[in-house]
Amino acid sequence: MRILIATLALLTLGAAEDRSQAWLRYAHVPNAAQHISVPSRIVALNATSGSPISTAQQELKRGIKSITGQRMQRKRSPDQQSTTIIIGTSDAYAKQYGNLTGSEDLVEDGFILDTESSNVIIVGQNERGALYGAFEYLSRLAQGNFAPTAGVQNPQAPIRWTNEWDNLDGSIERGYGGASIFFRNGYVVDNVTRVAEFARLLASLRINGVIVNNVNANASLLSDRNVEGLARLADAMRPYGVQLGISLNFASPQTFGGLSTFDPLDPSVDAWWANITNVIYERVPDMAGYLVKANSEGQPGPLTYNRTLADGANMFAKAVNPHGGIVMFRAFVYDNHINETNWKADRANAAVEFFQDLDGKFDENVVVQIKYGPIDFQVREPPNPLFSTLRYESTAIELQITPEYLGQNDHLVYLGPLWKEILEYDLRADGRPSKVKDIVTGKRFKQPLGGYAGVVGAGSNTTWLGSHMALSNLYAYGRLAWDASLDPQAILQDWIRLTFGFDEQVMSTITDMSMRSWPAYENYSGNLGIQTLTDIVYTHFGPNPASQDNNGWGQWTRADNFSIGMDRTVKNGTGNAGQYPPEIAAMFEDIETTPDNLLLWFHHVPYTQKLKSGKTVIQHFYDAHYEGAAVAQEFVKQWESLKGKIDQERYENVLFEQKFQAGHSLVWRDSINIFYYNLSEIADENNRVGNHPYRIEAENMALSGYKTYAVSPFHTASGFTAIITTSNTTTGVATTNAAFASGTYDVAVNYYDLIGGRSKYQLQIGNRTVGQWVGDAEDKLGHAPSIYLDGHSATRITFNGVQVQQGDEVRITGQADGIEPAPLDYVSFLPPGIVD
Ligand code: GCU
Repeated sequence: MRILIATLALLTLGAAEDRSQAWLRYAHVPNAAQHISVPSRIVALNATSGSPISTAQQELKRGIKSITGQRMQRKRSPDQQSTTIIIGTSDAYAKQYGNLTGSEDLVEDGFILDTESSNVIIVGQNERGALYGAFEYLSRLAQGNFAPTAGVQNPQAPIRWTNEWDNLDGSIERGYGGASIFFRNGYVVDNVTRVAEFARLLASLRINGVIVNNVNANASLLSDRNVEGLARLADAMRPYGVQLGISLNFASPQTFGGLSTFDPLDPSVDAWWANITNVIYERVPDMAGYLVKANSEGQPGPLTYNRTLADGANMFAKAVNPHGGIVMFRAFVYDNHINETNWKADRANAAVEFFQDLDGKFDENVVVQIKYGPIDFQVREPPNPLFSTLRYESTAIELQITPEYLGQNDHLVYLGPLWKEILEYDLRADGRPSKVKDIVTGKRFKQPLGGYAGVVGAGSNTTWLGSHMALSNLYAYGRLAWDASLDPQAILQDWIRLTFGFDEQVMSTITDMSMRSWPAYENYSGNLGIQTLTDIVYTHFGPNPASQDNNGWGQWTRADNFSIGMDRTVKNGTGNAGQYPPEIAAMFEDIETTPDNLLLWFHHVPYTQKLKSGKTVIQHFYDAHYEGAAVAQEFVKQWESLKGKIDQERYENVLFEQKFQAGHSLVWRDSINIFYYNLSEIADENNRVGNHPYRIEAENMALSGYKTYAVSPFHTASGFTAIITTSNTTTGVATTNAAFASGTYDVAVNYYDLIGGRSKYQLQIGNRTVGQWVGDAEDKLGHAPSIYLDGHSATRITFNGVQVQQGDEVRITGQADGIEPAPLDYVSFLPPGIVD
């Protein structure tokens, strides 16, 4: 295999890329024919038009032609002369050829791919399974993996859905890949081409359901016109075996239906839901079901009427039950007005508190959908204790592919390892093995349903998510949802091969970058279990640790001048540790046995508390932020080493992102470090924090047309101050003389790139123009931008290898535009090898 891949690597460079094909680009594998004989005919059993079998047939033709160059013929039955791919359901196969060995072991959506004999046999338990088998065959060919295979592949969980948080107006909540592919201007889109393309991608990952609208649901989705539209979406996805589902707004009977109430125990409300459900199923007979966010973050729910959450969920369950539908009822229920002065208050307790007494009270077709951690998709959380609390309910784990708190696809963060860690976590319910992955499949507590819900945020951007690299997360999600025992690095490498080809350096470099990306992000965004220290009251992108506290959202750090962390112990704190089964509870209760990476999640400690590593908490903070940001700088060089090995467009695109991340990681590093230095007044042992000898602060330069500006939060500006033009139409000039020794420097300029303006900048040194740029992040980055000078808009641009003479004039000219007053923070003159 290694030798083959090395040969392939030499032969597969340079083709133009259709970016939207993602891992289904079926790049040509030039000498495939030397290694494998791919049948030249396809026999598709029971392939009715528009069925997944007929999709599989087309996909095989398309894929095989593209990978091997070989054209396929369609046939009704195999002939003697040539080898054949036979594809169909196990029933259809049995009728024609007799029982296939292993087919008795198939579960719903499972398949057998048998390439051991001259004919290739692809048999699914159902049509969808057969399509999955076809994708598996193509994936193997596309990866140059020609080893014969045979055997049953079954999903570990029946529910493998995505949740799209698309709004009817066409925006996507927490989406960074452009506008919705499902909705526009209040209605379902007319052209569903891209919806079908999305379903194709999902089917190749064996995802079988998509909730198309935001959990913060708009009741007008239920209008006649939109129900027609939903039918259109379902029709577009059906050939791929992907079923449509929708999110509901609990108050719809009142706000949309004109009833006086939405009380789930009111018969008129029940009847209203039953009726609208029937109407939808008439148009979408195979609708997967409903997703409900109730009594959470201001959303209506049954608690309004003193009914239980189970009363609410069961109302929908009864409506969809005659149609075979499922209700995914979210456990993300909490009060967002809790009081931080109460030492025992804790949002992390909410899910167990709301649901523990309801165990066994939900109908059979309800699945409780639980976010992986007790708070909200943070960079590190322990598993949600609700997983081990509910013994009589089917549960699903909710993961977030769109990295709302994890760099919003402008930072490389490969999430496979994070999810894997949670899925492999053994909660030791009743002192027995109880891994999260076995709970959500329904196996551990013997429940009929269960599975995965992944929040994707796919949009109209050709990369779907706003970044090529981010697609590894969607890929990993699908693979783990099918089989959580897979190794996230192996999954990643399949994705790399399918996305970028066979070059060994490409493989090792992207593997290394991706596998280091989550730890690096954790290091510079929030470590020791303190959560992602982002701005939780504005966009969740840049640093703002103070925003976690002094509000009712309950993502508290409880940081003061001496100490930090949530005391979640039973003996002295919120009691959250006690929500876990006894072995785990005992571990978290005791500071000695709590792992360092969750120390501040469970314990409130002085900054001088010693970790197991021997460092103090505060020194760990400083060091980790420096280490994490240093890794992000290396990503740029690593990616640059791939120049010429990746097509130009994707190369440039990713390079831009890596450079952005490298700059923004420094914003994170400095901002968090100076914030905690300011609080604790404990100096960095290595004297880095607050000490930047290579910087010239913009506010210390001679200013004309510029004025100083106190940035808020203060720690998102070097020296707490920046400069802005004196008016929004002014051109400002900031000058100084380089006091550094003559030599070659990397010159970095930190500025703020706001939405709502495209300021122009020019950097001149000694009368030479070193660079010109535009503050146009709003056009280039997918993240929700900021209209302020802050940790979201703080950006760095670097000019490498600049010759500087001591005493040269350094001149930055900034021309304001729109609401963006050409803001500048500082200039760094970095000698070779130094990053600051
Ligand atoms: C997060 C996110 C919201 C989302 C919510 C949810 O809080 O920021 O945008 O609505 O989770 O999962 O319901």
